[in-house]
Amino acid sequence: GLLLLCCGGGVAAITWFFARPPLDQRVDFDRPLRVPPLAASTVDGQGRRVFELRAQAGESDLGHGATRTWGYNGAYLGPTLRAKRGEQVVVNVRNSLPEATTVHWHGMHLPAKVDGGPHHPIPAGGSFQAAWTVDQPAATLWYHPHPSETTEKQVYRGLAGMFIVDDDEPAQAALPHDYGVDDVPVMVQDKDFDGDQLSMAGRFGSDIGVLGDQILVNGTPSPYLDVHSELVRLRLLNASTARIYNFRLGDGRPFALVGTDGGLLDKPFMTDHVRLSVGERAEIVVEMRPGERVALRSVQSLGGDLGSKFNGGQDAFDILQLRAAATLTPAALPKTLVATPRLDPAQAAQTRSFTFSGREINDRKMDMDRVDAVIVKDTVEVWNVRNGHDTPHSFHIHDVQFQVLAVDGAPPPGELSGWKDTLYLAEGRTFRIIARFADYADPTTAYMFHCHVLKHEDEGMMGQFVIVEKGDQPRLTHG
Ligand code: C2O
Ligand code: CU
Repeated sequence: GLLLLCCGGGVAAITWFFARPPLDQRVDFDRPLRVPPLAASTVDGQGRRVFELRAQAGESDLGHGATRTWGYNGAYLGPTLRAKRGEQVVVNVRNSLPEATTVHWHGMHLPAKVDGGPHHPIPAGGSFQAAWTVDQPAATLWYHPHPSETTEKQVYRGLAGMFIVDDDEPAQAALPHDYGVDDVPVMVQDKDFDGDQLSMAGRFGSDIGVLGDQILVNGTPSPYLDVHSELVRLRLLNASTARIYNFRLGDGRPFALVGTDGGLLDKPFMTDHVRLSVGERAEIVVEMRPGERVALRSVQSLGGDLGSKFNGGQDAFDILQLRAAATLTPAALPKTLVATPRLDPAQAAQTRSFTFSGREINDRKMDMDRVDAVIVKDTVEVWNVRNGHDTPHSFHIHDVQFQVLAVDGAPPPGELSGWKDTLYLAEGRTFRIIARFADYADPTTAYMFHCHVLKHEDEGMMGQFVIVEKGDQPRLTHG
């Protein structure tokens, strides 16, 4: 544990670690998995798809009676938004919470003005309209609050939802795609309860915030999912505030990783585990045999990583039980998915380096008036992102999807071969990434890049970049 001591205005941290046996949480899998409803939408006079989201307080049954929670259009989490590449979307957000919030579209390529960062708070009782054209490959994205200093608390209370982007790639039709049936959102969160209420007490003694010992999937404790076909596609999202998961199947069988944060891979990558830090997604396809029950579990095996020290080391959790019917509809995995051209580092207009350490990026905390990177529109950049400290971090950049060129100079492993917007920054590692910053120049408005461990984010572990037309300079305005 960590003890915080306040002395003369300064804060010192004393660290020691209790020896405790690793948790091995088993559950009865006695509740059907809740599937977030698809959000209703209307089409306006200009042909735009319009969604309404209301952030509100309520009460939820999370397995501990009536728990006070927050959600969108309901008491906990939010509906799944869904739109197709090329569509114009409008989301009208109303804030019925007792405090300011924002809604950020994590993984979405869109103008900075509607990105939902901390620069554009929606006051209690206020509203905000985000409008943009969806223009990126089909992917599993998500939305969540991003207000200054209160993101951890708001996400922890339940504000999060999925945003699925569709497109016309044949691979989408070849993969399981019946929402809630064989194509299922799996939003994984860990919670700590004090009686019947959510507790954040753990954050004060922890370097990375709350690590709960109760798992919820889409807000369901102890969940199972009935499966009626040979293949089931799970859209895994780590919507926790700090915890890292290492997903495996109970019997260790391999499954197919078909997509990462920003879209499908070139072809299915067979693996027996997939690790997701906060904010990361993975689309996996699991093959089932008639009548069997298989548990999706998180089994930490972070080895020498300091991640293990802060993340419950060898802790293991039951996540979700898959229950196959006695007869299953036949299904086959496509051999190829979506061919993605590799970005070429020889074309990089700029190379930058960012070291994540403590609560700083390159020794600086977030400053809304400082621009950390001025990027020329439609150029490609290479970033070297490094964890220089002894705490796990998670790197996320707004607006773009990137490709990983190298990890400590070596080619990236299969699970990092596709589009990414969030990366687990293991201790001491350097990730060389490449992205194109296309379309949206706005000298007045910054996008963020930051650590997605939400306590770190709230404590200022963020930087800003501004995309400008060639020859232009940023001139930030807030609001
Ligand atoms: Cu998922 Cu800047 O956030
Ligand atoms: Cu961090």
